[in-house]
Amino acid sequence: MKRKVGIMGGSFDPIHIGHLVVANEALNIYKLDEIIFVPTGNPPHKEGLKADSFHRLLMVNMAVLSNNKFSVSDIEIKNPGKSYTLNTLIEFHKLYENAEFYFITGTDAIFNLPSWHRTEEILKLCRFIAASRPGISIEEVNKKINEIKEMFGGKIEILQIPMLQISSTDIRERVSMGISVKYLLPESVEQYIIKNELYRGMGTHLPEESLCSKSEGMSPNKGDTPPCLGRVSAGRRNVPVREPMRNEMYFEELKKKLEIEIGQKLFRHSIGTMEEAEKLASVYGCDMSKAKIAGLLHDCGKGTCKDNLKHAKKSAEIARLKFGVKDKDIINAIMYHTTGRVNMTLLGKIIFIADKIEPNRHYEGVEEIRKEAYTNIDAAIIKSLESTIEYVKNRNMVLDMESVNTLNYLKEGK
Ligand SMILES: [Fe+2]
Ligand SMILES: [Fe+2]
Repeated sequence: MKRKVGIMGGSFDPIHIGHLVVANEALNIYKLDEIIFVPTGNPPHKEGLKADSFHRLLMVNMAVLSNNKFSVSDIEIKNPGKSYTLNTLIEFHKLYENAEFYFITGTDAIFNLPSWHRTEEILKLCRFIAASRPGISIEEVNKKINEIKEMFGGKIEILQIPMLQISSTDIRERVSMGISVKYLLPESVEQYIIKNELYRGMGTHLPEESLCSKSEGMSPNKGDTPPCLGRVSAGRRNVPVREPMRNEMYFEELKKKLEIEIGQKLFRHSIGTMEEAEKLASVYGCDMSKAKIAGLLHDCGKGTCKDNLKHAKKSAEIARLKFGVKDKDIINAIMYHTTGRVNMTLLGKIIFIADKIEPNRHYEGVEEIRKEAYTNIDAAIIKSLESTIEYVKNRNMVLDMESVNTLNYLKEGK
């Protein structure tokens, strides 16, 4: 059976209860397996959005943490250029080999849909779910839907939801005027806005919602319209995109989500790899939280990857897109954990060897490699690669040349 995946785009500037209610309704009514929130990147005219992508991404992460079926993807944020809905859908189709996609948007977006970039192709790649919005007549929307279906075909449906008069614009205005936003957004997001002094000093009444309606939460197709206009927050700071805070809660949530994604057996192996990586990192003076994340997620794409040889690459993609990992060092360590590579970093070496020696591994020679790993990590990797290459050769299996190159590289440096 195909996995049913909802995609919910928007600027989420900031995310609020209205977004979460729509997502939850879509999840229940269409019996979706999961919903991925996809915050838009900063458009060419950055004035259109009030908080940097880093803040918006983090707030969405916080808002969805408590729901195991919700996750966040930075696919649009990490691409600096125009991001079209079509490209986003194509990327998700590559990532999920056997899935049916539900693109969740607002009824207001329906009126602009014919002018989106390659509408017909978009409608072939997903079912379109338009959530009702206050002030928009369902009758009018239905009329438009019929016109679109005649023109382009496709499946477009209206999702009737409780009318919540909450908008990101309203929240920004309230914050700028010092009015409480309690219960309009998750408490963690409210605290985050206060702590980081977001949306302050913006003046009182900003008309950008009418100008930028397409980049508002339920109208994700920002790349298909001209850049939005609006004022820049005086308190706005250019903050580089970073990882979320890696505290206990972050790791607990990461584990919960991973367990659902990969199943018990692989989860046990991942926990073992994480703990081994953490110990190795403390011995070799490497960043321990990076080692924990990479160890935990190194096989996160293994369950959905048909070709075992490619599971490291797939895991790196899923760590980035589904688990929100941005750090290149972590992503590379995951990507090369099966073969190693020339010029691999210390973190890369730690993840490579932690995967091979974690406590659930029981193969001939593992004890020797285990001991070596804590005294001479390069020698341990050489031993592990040599035994893998021999095993592959003996069984006439396909040998990955990256492993041979890594072996030669490490032997040269020895
Ligand atoms: Fe693996
Ligand atoms: Fe593994």
